[in-house]
Amino acid sequence: METSKEFKKLIKRGSDFLNCPYPIMCGAMTWISDPKLVSAVSNNGGFGCLAGGNAPAEILARSIEETRKLTDKSFGVNLITIAPAYRDHLAMLKDIKLPFVIFAGSFPRDKEIQIAKASGAKVLCFASTESIAERMIRYGADALILEGSEAGGHIGHVATTILLQQVLFKYADRLPIFAAGGIATGKMAAHVMLMGAAGIQLGTRFVMTDECSAHPAFKDVFMRANARDAVSTPQYDSKLPVVAVRALKNKGMVKFGELQLHLLKEMQEGKIGREQAQEEVEKYWIGALRRAVVDGDVDGGSLMAGQSVGLLDKLMTIRELIDELVGEADAELQKTARFFAN
Ligand SMILES: Cc1cc2nc3c(=O)[nH]c(=O)nc-3n(C[C@H](O)[C@H](O)[C@H](O)COP(=O)(O)O)c2cc1C
Repeated sequence: METSKEFKKLIKRGSDFLNCPYPIMCGAMTWISDPKLVSAVSNNGGFGCLAGGNAPAEILARSIEETRKLTDKSFGVNLITIAPAYRDHLAMLKDIKLPFVIFAGSFPRDKEIQIAKASGAKVLCFASTESIAERMIRYGADALILEGSEAGGHIGHVATTILLQQVLFKYADRLPIFAAGGIATGKMAAHVMLMGAAGIQLGTRFVMTDECSAHPAFKDVFMRANARDAVSTPQYDSKLPVVAVRALKNKGMVKFGELQLHLLKEMQEGKIGREQAQEEVEKYWIGALRRAVVDGDVDGGSLMAGQSVGLLDKLMTIRELIDELVGEADAELQKTARFFAN
């Protein structure tokens, strides 16, 4: 796609870092970001991220192989630090030689970042607060994904607008920072890049593409949802710390509340410990998300979605989506340039 020299300048840092034409990342989504989606994003100029999720190491290795067959372009692999196979995923890195590793879930230790870097990978880490951003930079992250609480899936508590001011403005000169959470238009992408972001990461919007293999019922609920329907889960008691999840309201969300209360009772009665209770919580999400995404159980499963779900009303191909984001961002940039030229 033909773009202006101003746009080329704006995206250069992010594109050079990710080694792709446009610094538009499709964030990894467990059960959703499979080789088909990831390769379609990368083949159309963006940057796809394969979800390591809960997969055993040999299955993840097979998905990486499959993605490599579908694209010779750059893509990332998302490793979840709290996944049962996380240690095996890390151990696999020295043989598989990935160019990009994205740590998610909880936050990686410095040793784990070093393992990934020693394998030759560039490391991207999520940051949902200023102190986590500082820690990830100290541990050697090559780039940050600054994700605000508007995002879908597991989230922090601070909004993107605050993180942009707290972290992006402070650290953008030091390392590339990709903004995420609530971004769904090229217009917004242009403005966060003008603020200093190297690029953007979107999740929710990529669900609404033909290449995304989520169940049609899952996409259908996204189509109809409003921004206010994507709510975040509460934590009932600090004795059982749970990472908040943003998803569309349904019975699955109510069930999660009940599960928390049940686990707290079991903890009080000394039947289970905190770690085991937290494992049960994570198992719940992985299973519930699978039920919604794969089986189409949109009542009982988990409909993880960001507030940007309220901005979506149509399905399109990845090509159309990336072209739209790039076209809108460039047009916005031209509008801004005209404003100052006159
Ligand atoms: C259904 C769903 C599943 C997700 N799963 C993961 C995941 O496995 N790993 C991860 O790092 N982020 C995950 N995310 C977050 C996305 O990668 C991305 O950062 C986020 O969706 C960006 O915000 P947005 O939803 O406002 O576009 C998930 C998001 C959604 C909507």
